[in-house]
Amino acid sequence: MADWTDAEKSTISAVWGKVDINEVGPLALGRVLIVYPWTQRYFGSFGDVSTAAAIMGNPKVAAHGKVVCGALDKAVKNMGNILATYKSLSETHANKLFVDPDNFRVLADVLTIVIAAKVGAAFTPEIQATWQKFMKVVVAAMGSRYF
Ligand code: HEM
Repeated sequence: MADWTDAEKSTISAVWGKVDINEVGPLALGRVLIVYPWTQRYFGSFGDVSTAAAIMGNPKVAAHGKVVCGALDKAVKNMGNILATYKSLSETHANKLFVDPDNFRVLADVLTIVIAAKVGAAFTPEIQATWQKFMKVVVAAMGSRYF
């Protein structure tokens, strides 16, 4: 699906190594729900998502943000085979959760913004380019079972 140079692999691992899943996961999913409110429709069982403060304080949103980041961790650790890593997760989102796959790009973009804010100046344009290649592969793999 994608060829990675050793430099790209180590850049992606290094970026991910700076990320605390327990912090970034809740922040990213919370922001998705606030900035792109139509995504709230998928989380009807999560309780109060009526305001930005409610979303950022919602323990179910926080817990699920960590779950999503846990799945991203698997992609970082299986960079050579992201398509297979996400096969069943893509099927679940397509056929059981009915998530519009355009939302994967939304989540990837928001996650990148949250990571950039955390990493600061060390998130150089070159590092961002490699990170976004990784996100693009994740988004493609998550969308791979939709047809
Ligand atoms: C990179 C993108 C994503 C990854 C890696 C990911 C990962 C996951 C994982 C690991 C689960 C748990 C699956 C299970 O328990 O079998 C899950 C569930 C779910 N995902 Fe995603 N997800 C992504 C994007 C999204 C997006 C963009 C949405 C909607 C806007 C979404 C909506 C959901 C919902 C509604 C559930 C079920 C939650 C529950 O009821 O507990 N996901 N996702």
